[in-house]
Amino acid sequence: MIKPLRKVLSLFFCATALFFHAFDVHAASSNMSDGQTEAQPSTLAAASTPKSGANAAVSMNTYKDIHGRSVQTDIAVFTAADQTSVTPAVSHGYEKYGAYCFRCHGKDAVGGAYAPDLRKSMANGMTYPQFLATVLAGRSAKGMPSWAGVFGEKDIHAIYDYIKSRQLDLIAGGSSPSG
Ligand code: HEC
Repeated sequence: MIKPLRKVLSLFFCATALFFHAFDVHAASSNMSDGQTEAQPSTLAAASTPKSGANAAVSMNTYKDIHGRSVQTDIAVFTAADQTSVTPAVSHGYEKYGAYCFRCHGKDAVGGAYAPDLRKSMANGMTYPQFLATVLAGRSAKGMPSWAGVFGEKDIHAIYDYIKSRQLDLIAGGSSPSG
């Protein structure tokens, strides 16, 4: 019983604080530049709709996977809707993966004797920032080398795009025609 009441109260105080904040800014607007005064309504709008604001930045692509199922992803895998050519990034990632990662993580990113299946890591929720941090730092005590100094962020993003495309079954093993 106490928790919902506290929630209502905190929402009330939050709304009151926003109201007075807006009022203060208005009262003090003579001391502010036009830019600062104009910024206020959008700040208030952002505060009241934080979720739609955050999601709006992510654009999703809808593709058909190799089994014909519809899949949504925030990475660009193909250059056109006919899905005949993968993006230069996915192609670049395939090459780098095949040169550096495959000997432990397995050919075609299916996992290997020495290291985990990275498709599973992604399916279990590994995000790009987590992937990037792991690849840069490595886990030397567990046999994962650090790739800082070998790859720049663009290469690592391309490898991520390639593995993600494999995880979502958007591309089969082996090389894909690239555009
Ligand atoms: C010498 C073998 C080796 C090579 C080469 C290698 N890795 Fe690893 N990697 C490992 C091992 C072993 C682990 C598991 C570490 C652990 O148990 O925490 C791992 C873990 C990872 C993880 C974390 C997976 C998870 O679920 O936590 C990522 C991401 C990763 N490797 C990416 C790469 C990428 C990208 C490349 C190529 C640029 C690469 N690795 C090359 C051995 C290797």
